[in-house]
Amino acid sequence: MSVEINWFPGHMKKALDELSDRLKLVDIVFETCDARIPLSSRNPELNRIIRDKRRIIVLNKADLADEIETKKWINELNKSGASAVAVDSIHKKGLIQIRNLSEQLCAEVLERARNKGRIGRPVRAMVVGIPNSGKSTLINSMCNRKIAITGDRPGVTRGFQWAKSDSNLELMDMPGVLLPNLGSNRNKLCLALTGAIKTQVTDSVSVSMDGMTMIQSLYPDYISQRYGIPAESDISDVQNQYDRFLTAARAKGCVLSGGRVDEERFAALFLDDFRSGRIGRISLEKVLDK
Ligand code: G4P
Repeated sequence: MSVEINWFPGHMKKALDELSDRLKLVDIVFETCDARIPLSSRNPELNRIIRDKRRIIVLNKADLADEIETKKWINELNKSGASAVAVDSIHKKGLIQIRNLSEQLCAEVLERARNKGRIGRPVRAMVVGIPNSGKSTLINSMCNRKIAITGDRPGVTRGFQWAKSDSNLELMDMPGVLLPNLGSNRNKLCLALTGAIKTQVTDSVSVSMDGMTMIQSLYPDYISQRYGIPAESDISDVQNQYDRFLTAARAKGCVLSGGRVDEERFAALFLDDFRSGRIGRISLEKVLDK
């Protein structure tokens, strides 16, 4: 699988430096990650930059993840001393928890402001996270309107603006692009499946085939249920995996004239099914993988 990565070390450093500068302006950081892949969708460098700044880890897209696994992740993160909340930014679920937790974690700051006569001072937060983790959606949902947020573009410094939420929070969008955790091929596959990194069109076939195998091993019934194909116990063999991919494609009518399977069409359909949750609520990374 070859993935298109538009990040360069210089751009990353610039983004992290700016992030570090702007941290001084906020009380708390909301770190968004994808609840389906809480390992790959977090930047490993971020801990070094954020250090002891107050932080809430937002397990976003929780509506697409396995609820039980997300609860386990939250327990695990809480046990390690972090504060984590499961959020569905599109349907505004979990936003109240973010607000309450922010007020709790920033109680001292708010108290100091009150003592200086600044009653009702908002909590200032910066939203950081890898591309596609839902930063813009979270900000828009918290503010109840569409805020013009410049898309993530590597190497481009963005001016910043405070977006006021309904709940006495002021939100700042992070500067620059944050690299995901590209550590292993499995991480890359998770990121490609969820759409956090773009794949070449031709590679969508291998991403889908490998993704199908990964999902089959994690949730044995989901693929056969969705695509009406027999359950398969032996998925260790690559030929078996490919045959299954072709059977599912045929079952969905992805066939060219002459009877050949339209692999790219099925790959696109499969990725869309996965990303929109039609295969099921799936967590690709579990606490045990940590
Ligand atoms: P970003 O600013 O961090 O880059 O992410 P953004 O908010 O643009 O969200 C990326 C995609 O994820 C969007 O889909 C958005 O609708 C979706 N998304 C964000 N939060 C949630 C959530 O809590 N649940 C679900 N189900 N989806 C969420 P998109 O517009 O279709 O973009 P794309 O996936 O085609 O790139």
